[in-house]
Amino acid sequence: AQALLAPGDLAGVRVVVSAGGTREPIDPVRFLGNRSSGRQGVALAAEAAARGAEVTVVAANVSADVLADVRHPAIRVLAVGAAAELAEVMKREALEADVVVMAAAVADYRPVQVSDRKLTKEAGGVPTIELVENEDIVAALAAARRSGQLVVAFAAETPEDEAELLARARGKQQRKGVDLLVVNEVGWERGFERAENAVRILGPGGVGAGVASGSKRAVASAIWDAIVQER
Ligand code: CTP
Ligand code: CA
Repeated sequence: AQALLAPGDLAGVRVVVSAGGTREPIDPVRFLGNRSSGRQGVALAAEAAARGAEVTVVAANVSADVLADVRHPAIRVLAVGAAAELAEVMKREALEADVVVMAAAVADYRPVQVSDRKLTKEAGGVPTIELVENEDIVAALAAARRSGQLVVAFAAETPEDEAELLARARGKQQRKGVDLLVVNEVGWERGFERAENAVRILGPGGVGAGVASGSKRAVASAIWDAIVQER
């Protein structure tokens, strides 16, 4: 009971968490997407609110079922679709945030052309969809952060071995200029669309700042521990 009444180590902290995966439109009925359910982002939001934070979830295509876990008086949900929309909303919301966590899976590329009409086989042949790179949202957020604000990124990796995992993660953290990087080993059977997760957390300079495995809520709790440590 004491723990329930305690103010929490994130009391009054303003948090923005992106969750889910972007969908890049091809035509009115099709998109390029990914397998992120939004569960890890939602668990981060729920855990932050439980510890006293004021939370905004920027939800990219997260199902109502998954969003049921963020019904909380201190959590506001904003729905977005494509990467460009996610970028716009994150940049706006980050202006007032103390901690920004980019847990959403962002499409690296989007179709150059979005057809107003459904592509049809009547056109003949097999269509070629030309792609263009999307902006790196978390890198932009990190570059624009004000003093005292913490920016956290995720990295989804499918490495050959441990050494490659760490090398890739450290390079990614440096390129993006983020304070903390949560490294998630994914695969056909791991990470996406699963209730369980396993991560390691890199602090500034690529130094280990924690490891966690278990439920996405348990992982979320370890991530907030590392963030609180860093603040
Ligand atoms: N990210 C982003 N904007 C993008 C792509 C990724 O903000 N256009 C963010 C993700 O939300 C995540 C982090 O960057 O927090 C790492 O995403 P990841 O896909 O692992 O890294 P990439 O830089 O896209 O590299 P790659 O996919 O080539 O491994
Ligand atoms: Ca990527």
